[in-house]
Amino acid sequence: MKNFSILGYGHIGRVHQQAIEEAENAQLISVIDFNLPDDLSIKGYSTLESFLIDDKQTDVVIISTPNGLHREHAIRCLKAGKNVLIEKPIALTVEDANEILKVAEEKNLRVFTSMQLRFSPVVQYVKNLIDNHSLGQVFMININCYWNRNRNYYKLREWHGNQEMDGGVLFTQFSHFVDIMNFWFDEVICTNSKSYNFTHQEVTQFDDSGCVDFTADGAVGHMIYTTSTFNKNFESNITLIAEKGTVKIGDQYLNQMIYSDLKNVCCSNKISTEQKNFHPNAIAEISEALMSENESLLEGKYAVNLVQFITDANRLATESKHDFKKEDYEISHA
Ligand SMILES: NC(=O)c1ccc[n+]([C@@H]2O[C@H](COP(=O)([O-])OP(=O)(O)OC[C@H]3O[C@@H](n4cnc5c(N)ncnc54)[C@H](O)[C@@H]3O)[C@@H](O)[C@H]2O)c1
Repeated sequence: MKNFSILGYGHIGRVHQQAIEEAENAQLISVIDFNLPDDLSIKGYSTLESFLIDDKQTDVVIISTPNGLHREHAIRCLKAGKNVLIEKPIALTVEDANEILKVAEEKNLRVFTSMQLRFSPVVQYVKNLIDNHSLGQVFMININCYWNRNRNYYKLREWHGNQEMDGGVLFTQFSHFVDIMNFWFDEVICTNSKSYNFTHQEVTQFDDSGCVDFTADGAVGHMIYTTSTFNKNFESNITLIAEKGTVKIGDQYLNQMIYSDLKNVCCSNKISTEQKNFHPNAIAEISEALMSENESLLEGKYAVNLVQFITDANRLATESKHDFKKEDYEISHA
């Protein structure tokens, strides 16, 4: 049994609470948040400092505060001798992510990240197809993420839409889709990127949409994402075009096999599941990995390339805007 405490008892902090309650090998010791409910049934701390002075029991602190605080909160917990499970993204820069991992190594502690869609049976099924070469050579990957995040969403929480605390839609909305590329393939590299702001000019400090080109081992990849879809989320999915098969998986939580046509494999339509919340799987696997000293699917080191990819995508999109403006200027002055 491993003891967990949750730092940041907001939307996802409560999802972690439920996940811990469901896991047989985990228990919740306390929650830390400067805004705690009056009817809290477990031990609560209003500051991280008071928790770190008082707590002697916690094995893992779940960092579920806003993205821009992950680095500071993770490092403070590690320095106090706690393992950490950091909500996605591990940090907003590669330097910060590496610093967290370095402190953990110095302290002989572990860092996990909450990329829980790795536990979707559909995602794992496709990983097996790739790993055991059932798909042959993967030629193309197409990721579509057509979501809606409206003004109310950004009004609800102060940190949403803020560059320093949120970091942008690739970090906050779409990082799971990038992570799945890192889960399936060894080397995923962003090669080109453009971004646009269709409906959030006065709402967020970053663009709401974009197109990203990437390579994933030998395959060429393309990702289109937006939070400007009319009215509500429309769809999100990943398609693989490969030598020995075509696969399309989807739904917001990548729990549905939408299409598969495979040369050597049948019955992939039975893989879909109605399960959408994979946090309980993550908690159980992390507890087990700590008890048995096994590697976890959610090791923090796997999250660094996610941050690298998104940083590159954001940088290339900014550069392409500057290039465009320069060309535009030159043409209009020719
Ligand atoms: N894995 C997923 O699928 C998933 C889904 C949603 C959110 N998230 C991630 O979870 C994190 C939290 O998101 P959320 O939607 O729960 O946000 P939220 O705003 O609902 O919750 C954040 C909580 O942190 C608390 N907090 C902020 N600063 C603090 C501090 N210094 N000390 C103590 N408490 C502090 C706030 O009071 C709030 O209760 C983000 O990193 C987000 O990207 C992950």
